[in-house]
Amino acid sequence: MMKALWTAAAAAAGAAVYGLSRPGVRKTLREDLETVRRRDPAARNDFVSLVSYPGMHAIWAHRGLHRLWQHDLGRVPARLMSQAVRTLTGVEIHPGARIGRRFFIDHANGVVIGETSEIGDDVMLYHQVTLGGTSMEQTKRHPTIGDHVLIGAGAKILGPVTVGDNSAVGANAVVVKDVAPDSSAVGIPAAVRPKRSRVAAGSSGGQHGEGAASSKYADFELVDPALWI
Ligand SMILES: CC(C)(COP(=O)(O)OP(=O)(O)OC[C@H]1O[C@@H](n2cnc3c(N)ncnc32)[C@H](O)[C@@H]1OP(=O)(O)O)[C@@H](O)C(=O)NCCC(=O)NCCS
Repeated sequence: MMKALWTAAAAAAGAAVYGLSRPGVRKTLREDLETVRRRDPAARNDFVSLVSYPGMHAIWAHRGLHRLWQHDLGRVPARLMSQAVRTLTGVEIHPGARIGRRFFIDHANGVVIGETSEIGDDVMLYHQVTLGGTSMEQTKRHPTIGDHVLIGAGAKILGPVTVGDNSAVGANAVVVKDVAPDSSAVGIPAAVRPKRSRVAAGSSGGQHGEGAASSKYADFELVDPALWI
């Protein structure tokens, strides 16, 4: 037993050293950690963020599993591993979902993101958000979320609807129709209105960060840390 644990620890340490020797992995880690700091004023220590944000662990795992999902033979293992990730992080992201950069899930627990969901860059979700389907057909049946969108705790966005860039979905809203860019959607069913305050993703009512991401990380290829964890 002890021998197996030591072997696993040595393998993990070796993989970490190899991973961190790759500049793409280091840049990706830096971008993800900066996103956490920008979105969550409680995040002050990168090491603590690295080990204690299940939302970030879930997105790392998803990037690797999404890559696996692109291959026919990888689909079953990707699906099974995504369920293991759900058990570990409380976040269920179908490996088929397409997710942009600087995605952040705060508090993480209970988030469900369906297979045909598409999420732009600089999107932030809170716990208990569902991007769900309303159809049993194997077609595009989940939402499309634009760039710089904030989705409040407990919100449900259902069906192949579009939430436009720079919009916000209020906590506990149920969205079943398109949301225009620069709008807020609140209530059940969600009423859409022009956004009153400038609520960019990550600045929920002025609580979280300064919103739109800086472009300083724009031009490098994301290399998934999960590939070497
Ligand atoms: C919707 C939200 C993004 C604010 O958007 P906004 O465009 O700035 O909207 P405002 O604050 O100007 O509010 C507009 C109206 O919607 C109402 N409203 C705001 N949030 C609402 C919500 N979640 N549910 C129902 N109504 C809501 C306001 O009372 C206001 O109503 P009024 O026009 O009758 O006065 C914000 O209220 C929200 O829900 N953020 C999510 C925060 C969150 O989940 N935090 C979790 C931290 S753990």
